[in-house]
Amino acid sequence: MDGRVANIGQDLPLTPARVRSSIDDRRPSTGQDLRGWIKRMADIGELLVVKGAEREKEIGGIVDISMRKMGRPAVLFEDIPDYQPGFRVLANLFTSVKRIADTAGLPANTTEVELVRFWRDYMRHTPTIAPTLVNGGALLENSFTGDDINLLSIPTPRWHEGDGGYYIGTGGMVIMKDPDSNWVNYGAYRVQVHDRNTASVMISKGKHGDILMRKYHDRGLPCPIAVVVGVHPALFAIAGLEIPYGKNEYDAAGGLLGESIRVINGPQTGLPIPAEAEIAFEGFVHKDDLIMEGPLGEWTGYYAGGQKLEPAIRVVNFWHRNDPILTGALPGIPPNDDTFYRGTARAGVVWHELEAAGVPEIRGVWSHEAGGSRMWLTVSIKQMYGGHSKQAGLIASQCHAGAYANRVVVVVDEDINPADMDQVVWAICTRCDPRDDVDILKGCWSTTLDPMAYPPDRRNLNSRMVIDACKPWNRMADWPATVTNSPPLERHLREKFGSVLPPEW
Ligand SMILES: Cc1cc2nc3c(=O)[nH]c(=O)nc-3n(C[C@H](O)[C@H](O)[C@H](O)COP(=O)(O)O)c2cc1C
Repeated sequence: MDGRVANIGQDLPLTPARVRSSIDDRRPSTGQDLRGWIKRMADIGELLVVKGAEREKEIGGIVDISMRKMGRPAVLFEDIPDYQPGFRVLANLFTSVKRIADTAGLPANTTEVELVRFWRDYMRHTPTIAPTLVNGGALLENSFTGDDINLLSIPTPRWHEGDGGYYIGTGGMVIMKDPDSNWVNYGAYRVQVHDRNTASVMISKGKHGDILMRKYHDRGLPCPIAVVVGVHPALFAIAGLEIPYGKNEYDAAGGLLGESIRVINGPQTGLPIPAEAEIAFEGFVHKDDLIMEGPLGEWTGYYAGGQKLEPAIRVVNFWHRNDPILTGALPGIPPNDDTFYRGTARAGVVWHELEAAGVPEIRGVWSHEAGGSRMWLTVSIKQMYGGHSKQAGLIASQCHAGAYANRVVVVVDEDINPADMDQVVWAICTRCDPRDDVDILKGCWSTTLDPMAYPPDRRNLNSRMVIDACKPWNRMADWPATVTNSPPLERHLREKFGSVLPPEW
């Protein structure tokens, strides 16, 4: 992990006074296209350029290697064999706290828990700025319609060797509009390319895109749809987050970026499309027009779900900028780009929901990256009464943001940084008596992507454990002292030897 903070026992990073950033106190954005963001990442040392990797195995393979640990740079692939010079692929958008924080306008040294606190504030206040309709934009530099449409001109990688095809949409946004209102929804749903003018989209049941598509089909109408890849990562970030039903994602993205998103209207669908996007296409999904889709290696690290019939997108317009850049946010064995940033946001929402449920003195939440940012949650509290830690753990395991596909919840004291696994494991090993402090919950909300979900014919339930790794409340008075520097000694050492002690130590 990068941005590691705080020694055990120091109680430094989690107190409100130490929070340096808030949604009202942020650096202005670097613009709203992907290229400004890439330049910024290069400037702050967060970009690796790889030349000459081919799209069949090498691009995906390199991304797989590079995302095995979070904190590594984004990867830009140039000079892709067999494709037009200048056509590029960018992956690992959000595999470091530094890049997520920088994209949100937060300081470079933002810690994990500070980032989580930012998301908590963002979800609480949900700042919005409406999009602006413009007449044109860089996206339109190359426009294709009819027989000239060729999605295959883009060097879309086969991300993992076992994937059943080429996924142009992983790090992108799929746009739809409610036929009954002005609500425009966009989400990150996987999009596979099948031929020059056919793609498919896989939307899980109940997601907003699925609900909107059914509204058209129930009326016998084709569903207008637009797919966009290569946008400012703040827009993409919103695509993967659960923005409430009926709320316009462009408004939320404007609020996150701090400026109104410039959009053009798709000429045949009327859907708003970011004017400075790298690649976009619009088309229609007709009722019962299904195509064999998948498999795609997924965020739990398995090929769960296999190959299925999914809605086909018949493409009617296709655009790209000169020298376009395709963005990929790859699922795979966690940690991965699909889940890591969402985990920081999820932890913020769990924090908010714990407080809303009346649990006091939450000091931090972390949704561990190796658990796909859903399966492992750690909550840090300052214990105030007997049963407080049990209450925090059970609610975290069942609140809306924490309930789906969770497996482990750990509750730790306020001196433990929930984002530091060494500290969390130490707390479990020394403050938890498994006889009393581990609860197994059965019949909880899960998904077919969870390989341990049950029953076998309808794998949508799981069991999970809630570990209370806080000091036992009834032993607080005589709990042994922790072996570490006292806060005054720590301050003294950092002041006196600050020139030789790196701040991240
Ligand atoms: C990289 C990435 C890929 C995703 N792929 C899918 C997908 O293929 N299908 C799906 O239903 N959700 C997928 N999700 C999750 C949805 O984007 C997420 O639940 C989002 O909130 C959906 O938007 P909605 O709330 O407007 O339905 C993905 C998320 C990310 C970040």
